[in-house]
Amino acid sequence: MSGVTIQAERQPRSSRILGIGGYRPSRVVTNAEIIEKIDSSDEWIRTRSGIESRRWASDDETVISMSLAAARKALADAGVQPEQVDCVIVSTVTHLYQTPSAAAQIAYELGTNKAAAFDVSAACAGFCYGLSLASDMVRVGTAGHVVVIGVERLSDLTDKTDRSTAFLFADGAGAAVVGPATRPAEAGIGPVVWGSDGQHLDHIRQKEHWRDALFNETGPAMPHLVMQGNAVFRWASYEMAKVAQEALDAAGVTVDDLDVFVPHQANMRITDAMSRQLKLPERVAVARDIATQGNTSAASIPLAIERMLETGEAQSGDLALIIGFGAGLVYAGQVIRIP
Ligand code: UT7
Repeated sequence: MSGVTIQAERQPRSSRILGIGGYRPSRVVTNAEIIEKIDSSDEWIRTRSGIESRRWASDDETVISMSLAAARKALADAGVQPEQVDCVIVSTVTHLYQTPSAAAQIAYELGTNKAAAFDVSAACAGFCYGLSLASDMVRVGTAGHVVVIGVERLSDLTDKTDRSTAFLFADGAGAAVVGPATRPAEAGIGPVVWGSDGQHLDHIRQKEHWRDALFNETGPAMPHLVMQGNAVFRWASYEMAKVAQEALDAAGVTVDDLDVFVPHQANMRITDAMSRQLKLPERVAVARDIATQGNTSAASIPLAIERMLETGEAQSGDLALIIGFGAGLVYAGQVIRIP
C-alpha cells in the first residue's frame, strides 16, 4: 500500500455573489389573454396569486439564449471575464435535451476556457441548490468563479386550458457569478438549509413521462405539468417559514439583521404568509416580482433580486434571506449579501 498523502484542496476561503443578471422574455401575457382559454377572471388571478401579467418566451427565446443573456449581464456586473469562469451550473427542468447539458453549451458559447459544466434538476429550489454548490466549490478551491443560472420555459410544459396552472407559470432566466470574498469576514453566502420530501412527488409533476407523451393514440404532444395547488400552497406557506428560520439560524443572524427577503416567486400569498410567520420587520424589503413576471421556477429568485436592485428596493451589500421550494418536493434557503 502506498503511504503517499493525497494533496488536500487549497486553503479554505469565503465565497460571495459578485454579480447578478436576468433576462425577461419580451412578450407580456395579460390575465385577459389567459382567461380566453380558462374559466377564470382577472380578479381571481390577482387576488389568489398576485399575478397581473407574466412573460412567455417566443420561439427564438430559448433556454440557451435566455441563459446566455442573463449570464453575460451577471459577468459584466461582476467584472469577471468568461475565461475566469471555472464552472457553469444550470438549474432547469425545461431544457429540451436530456443530453448534452445546457450548461456545456452555455460554457462554450460564453467563451469560458473549457469550464466544468452540468445541469441541476431541483425545480423551483434550483437556484438555491446551484448557489450552494457554487459556494462550496469556491470555498474549498475547486473553482475560482462559478456562473449559476436558473432558467425556465415553463410555458412549453403548461396546458393553457388547465385553470389550475395556466395563469401561474412563466419564462425567464437569472444568473449569478460566485467568487471568492476578499476577506473571510466578507463571507457573502451563508450555509444552505436544504432537503426533499419525496412522499409528495405527485403534488407538482410532469403528468406523463416523455415516452407516453410522444407515443400515444392522439399523437405526440409535450407533457404538461400538473399541480395540486392548494396542497403545495399549504406546505409552502407553513413548512417553508421554518426552513427560512433555520437558514437564518445557520448564518447566525436574525430577522432584525435582514434588509431584504427574496422567497421563490410562487404566489404573493405564500410570500405574505412566510413574512408573517418569520415576523419580518416592516422595513425589510420583500420581493414581489411575481406581479409582472409570473412564476418562473428556478429563475425567479435571481430575477427578483435584479429587479430590486434596479428599483432601489435593495442595495449592494444588503443582507438578504433567499428560499426556493417546489416539485419533489424540494427546498433550499440561505442568507446572502446582495452583490
Ligand atoms: O412554484 C412551485 C410551487 N408552486 C406553488 O407554490 C403554487 C402553490 N399554489 C398556489 O399558488 C395556489 O394553490 C393557486 C394559486 C394555484 C390556487 O389558489 P388556491 O387558493 O389554493 O385555490 P384552490 O385550488 O383551493 O381553489 C379555490 C377555488 C375553488 O373553487 P371552490 O371549490 O371554492 O368553489 C376552485 O375551483 O377557486 C377555484 N379555482 C379557480 N377559480 C377561478 C381554481 N382555479 C381557478 C381559476 N380561476 N384559475
